[in-house]
Amino acid sequence: MRKLIFILFLLTVSCKTKMAAPSGMVTHKAMVVSARSEASKIGANILARGGNAFDAMIATELALAVAYPYAGNISGGGFMVYRLNDGKTGALDYREKAPLAATRNMYLDASGKVIPGKSWFGATATAVPGTIAGIFEVHKKFGSLPFSTLIQPAIDLAQKGVIITHKQDSTIKYYKKQILKVSGSNNFFAKDIKEKDTVRFTQLANTLERIKNNGRDEFYNGTTARLLVNFVQSKGGYITMEDLQKYEAKWRDPVEFRYKKLKIISMSPPSSGGITLGQIMKMIEPYNISKYGHNQAKTIQLITEAERRAYADRNYFLGDPDFVEIPTAKLLDKSYLKSRMSGFTFKQPTLSSSVSHGNIEIVESDETTHYSIVDPFGNAVSVTTTVNGAYGSKLYCDELGIFLNNEMDDFSSKPGTPNMFGLIGAKANRIEPEKRMLSSMTPTIVEKNGKLWMVVGTPGGSTIITSVLQTILNVYEFKMSMQEAVNAPRFHHQWLPDDIKMEPGRFSKKVKEELTKLGYKINEHNSRIIGKVDAILVRRNGSLEAGADKRGDDTAAGF
Ligand code: DON
Repeated sequence: MRKLIFILFLLTVSCKTKMAAPSGMVTHKAMVVSARSEASKIGANILARGGNAFDAMIATELALAVAYPYAGNISGGGFMVYRLNDGKTGALDYREKAPLAATRNMYLDASGKVIPGKSWFGATATAVPGTIAGIFEVHKKFGSLPFSTLIQPAIDLAQKGVIITHKQDSTIKYYKKQILKVSGSNNFFAKDIKEKDTVRFTQLANTLERIKNNGRDEFYNGTTARLLVNFVQSKGGYITMEDLQKYEAKWRDPVEFRYKKLKIISMSPPSSGGITLGQIMKMIEPYNISKYGHNQAKTIQLITEAERRAYADRNYFLGDPDFVEIPTAKLLDKSYLKSRMSGFTFKQPTLSSSVSHGNIEIVESDETTHYSIVDPFGNAVSVTTTVNGAYGSKLYCDELGIFLNNEMDDFSSKPGTPNMFGLIGAKANRIEPEKRMLSSMTPTIVEKNGKLWMVVGTPGGSTIITSVLQTILNVYEFKMSMQEAVNAPRFHHQWLPDDIKMEPGRFSKKVKEELTKLGYKINEHNSRIIGKVDAILVRRNGSLEAGADKRGDDTAAGF
């Protein structure tokens, strides 16, 4: 009996130290994981035809614009982080910009109050789109196949039609009232669209065809540009031809930092993703978190306290680096972060009301989607792209076949007043003409021992950063497989509101009681789905394991 107990003990210990066997799709050369199977297959097919990760990025992005209008787009923006097979890294910012006509108080009434819905619904919420500029920039620098080859599958898909899934059916139903209210009862999405229907996007196919024939200029200075401007202006929005002509995607240096044996490469401002992820990871690094156990009270407590402090800094310091000075090095400095955690004890919560941004002297951004790609050459690409809310501003332009984004809501309309994700902004993220709104998108690539190890990211507004964090920790600290790490229940804290959001019904009663006893507020009711993570893990034998989030229709494809 004693012997048996000992063997069982040994088994438990080894389970904790050994990496779990893969439970997601495994391929040996290349993989694309995205929100829709059509898009993943189109991306993987480009790779099979000899294209690289960047070619696949362009094809996948465009396929999502067709198959996943919920978040995929040509009318929004995004961020790409890449790592080449020789270890070189970089990032592309194709985030939307505020129009030239934007003003600091554009969403406030005469008495200084935020006008409900103005930065949320319809043309007034729309910022200058960056997606088309982004993919052309990627093609110019890294593309190996002709652009026409990369856009053609999306055109074919739009013409052939997309089969509506069960989940898509329910989101369309959920948002239909809002879409009808904003876009009127004659628009394309007013039709009765239901599960298993094949929906053809003819207008969108025409728009994409024009882009294929006329290139980047079609969207920023051609027929499409004029149609977009006329439409936006007829609906009371602000975008002009000059805004479109002036738009440029920008190459940026990613944020890079170490966590134990890992090197994390993530998105820099105007996304808060990389810096905030870095702050949280560096704050928890000194603790032996794997010993506390996955999703145990002590683990949740430590992560929560680090998140609280990091989001307080995020909301104060971060904004568009072309407009505000960002003390990145200091924000990621070991001793600064140690001092941020100095008041932390496992005995009780540090109330958010007593936490502010750190003391740094400086001179002086509901729906998004993520995809991860690894090509047969060993290049990796991590992309998060968005129109902000589900179906963006809910304003559908029939002529172009697109929903307009509502990215303007990612600005801080009024310091101290929460946006749609409950994020409270400050001066650094106030509205200014041509400025990029602060984002939480966190496309991330992780190296282990100098080699490509993980490609990861997710939608989820303010919960993006903490979902990426938990996915990395689940594999590295808690030895889960990629798919298990994505499936695992997630929680989130963002300083304000001062509560721990938890996926409803997925955390044990005991853990919740322990945290409540300590003084933490648990919020299982009001929580949105916390992320839809799409990730790829390079396993020790070089094979690739997918983590495709079953919270959505997310799927992997590869070979
Ligand atoms: O850039 C951002 O942080 C937001 N616009 C992302 C929106 C998002 O993730 C919506 N998904 N649930």
